[in-house]
Order: sequence, then structure tokens, then C-alpha cells
Amino acid sequence: MSFPSHRPRRLRVNPAVRRLVGENRLHPAELILPVFVKEGLQEPHPLSAMPGVSQHSRESLRRTAAEAAGLGLGGIMLFGIPTAKDAVGSGATDPDGILNQAVADVRKEVGDELVVMADLCLDEFTDHGHCGVLTPEGAVDNDATLLRYADMGVALAEAGVHMVGPSGMMDGQVAAVRTALDGKGFQDVSILAYGAKYASAFYGPFREAVDSSLEGDRRTYQQDPANGAEGLREMELDIAEGADLVMVKPAMSYLDVVARAADRFDVPIAAYQISGEYSMIEAAAANGWIDRERAIHESLLSIRRAGASVILTYYAMEVAAALRS
Ligand code: PBG
Repeated sequence: MSFPSHRPRRLRVNPAVRRLVGENRLHPAELILPVFVKEGLQEPHPLSAMPGVSQHSRESLRRTAAEAAGLGLGGIMLFGIPTAKDAVGSGATDPDGILNQAVADVRKEVGDELVVMADLCLDEFTDHGHCGVLTPEGAVDNDATLLRYADMGVALAEAGVHMVGPSGMMDGQVAAVRTALDGKGFQDVSILAYGAKYASAFYGPFREAVDSSLEGDRRTYQQDPANGAEGLREMELDIAEGADLVMVKPAMSYLDVVARAADRFDVPIAAYQISGEYSMIEAAAANGWIDRERAIHESLLSIRRAGASVILTYYAMEVAAALRS
């Protein structure tokens, strides 16, 4: 018999050599923790569809932010849940609204140690649960929504946000927010655009996390899962409108879009491992069907390998702690 002249297995023989030739690795600095904070809560409220994740009180949010900074995370992405919701999402632009208060709290706690980010969208604040305001016929009104996003961006900036994440998929949203921020002297507040955001079934658990009242779906504004090129076009427009980073969301089912974006654009690419991706891992692990820690690591590494340099994940703290130990 002849011997193989090429033996890729040589570079896998032991942990030391595998570590040496690893092409990608995770680092706490590129992980962002999404956090839910709910108005009026005294104690954190655990989410049944996302074991291990809670809605926070303002106090527990402050502690979480301090812990995240201590672990060297890259940032924290805040989602606010108001007690009262209305048709235009008034709570989003109220300086005393829960999200704006939370941003101010977190900035006070961590200063510039963490990038403090906020989801810029109305769905947590509207009683109908859509990401924008509605026409009398009940359609999501793109341009009327842009005015609300512009005001929300300014309110968040006044509260001290470092970076806003417009996630409503309205046409022109990045330009509207950029113009409003610049007009008020907030040139240094950056924009992480949820550029390629798909109408995904995997957002399911998030609905519980933000007490969403949405009936129906978001398919007239979020993208069709069938489309890849459309996602690139969306991101291209966002960059032209002034996005500093662009994001693909969800991550795992859209790694092809992440890879194409990383090839094509020079801005940092982010990807969001969303609620349903988290819950799937938790559910399978709880049943003993997969090895939890390995699955978490592998899922994040695959996002990194696809080309995202920034990863939003509910596992950010746990992974950062494991990377440090
Ligand atoms: C919109 C928004 C959503 C998520 C982040 N921002 C929900 C949606 O678009 O339906 C989902 C995040 C997750 O599922 O973890 N404000």
C-alpha cells in the first residue's frame, strides 16, 4: 500500500496544536449582551421561553452592566418594556420612559467602559406591537415612523447612549436618525444598523421578553427568508445612509448573508444570535440531546467564521467568563 502524502490530521493531534492553528477564536470584547429592562419591576422576572434570561429591574440592570464591564464585554444592548403602551409608542421618546432612564442608569454605572447601545424601534412601546405607527387602514406608515425614530434617536442620545440600533426595517431609517442626531450635535453617537433583518419565526421567545402584543406578522417590512441579495442591498443602502456598522439578524440561519456582507463591505459586520436560537440550544441541552457548552461555543464560532466581528448573544456573560477562566 502507499502512504498518504498529505495528512491534515497532523494539525489535529493534540489540543496544543489545534489551539495553535485555530483560525478563529472568540474574545469578550466583541460580544454584546442584549438586556431587557421593565418599568416598575422590583426583582428580575425570569422568562419561561428563555431559561436563564430575565427581564431586569433598573437596579438589577445596573448590577448586570457593572458585571458585563468587569468581564470585559464589548457592549450592552438595551431593550425597554414600558408599563403603558399606546398607538405611537410615546414611551420611546419620553425622557422619563424606561429605555431612556435605563440608558442613563447604565452610563452612570459604566461610563465609557462598555459601549452602551439601545434598540431603536417602537414595537416595545406600541399597543399594537408593530415597529412603527399605523395608517388609518392599519398599515405600517413608513415615513410617519421615520419622524418617530428621529425623535427617539435624539432622546436616547440625550440620555447618554453611545450607539443606537435602528431595527424597524423602515426605508430611510438610518438617514433619518443620522440627520436628527447630527442636527442636535450628536455627531459622535454611532449607528449599528440592523441592515439585513429577516421576518423570522425564531423571534418567538422575544415576544414574551418584551410583553409584545403583536398580532399578525412583520412581513411587510422585515425581509423574506428566501432572499440573500436583498439583504446585501439593504446593507448597502444603510451604509450609504451613514451606518457605522451593519448587522445580520438572525445569525444562524443567515450565515451566508453574513459571509457575503463580510466579503463585500468594509464596515464592521455584526450578527445577532436571537432569542429562538438561544432557546433551541437551551431546550435541546435540557433534554440531554446536545452538549450545552460545546453547542454554545460552536454556534458563536460559526458566526465569527462567517465573518461577523461583533456578536450579539444572550450568552455573552457566560462565554466571556469561560474565556477568562
Ligand atoms: C425589534 C427587535 C426584535 C428583536 C430585536 N429587535 C423583534 C422583532 O423584530 O420581531 C428580536 C431579538 C430576539 O429575538 O432575540 N425591536
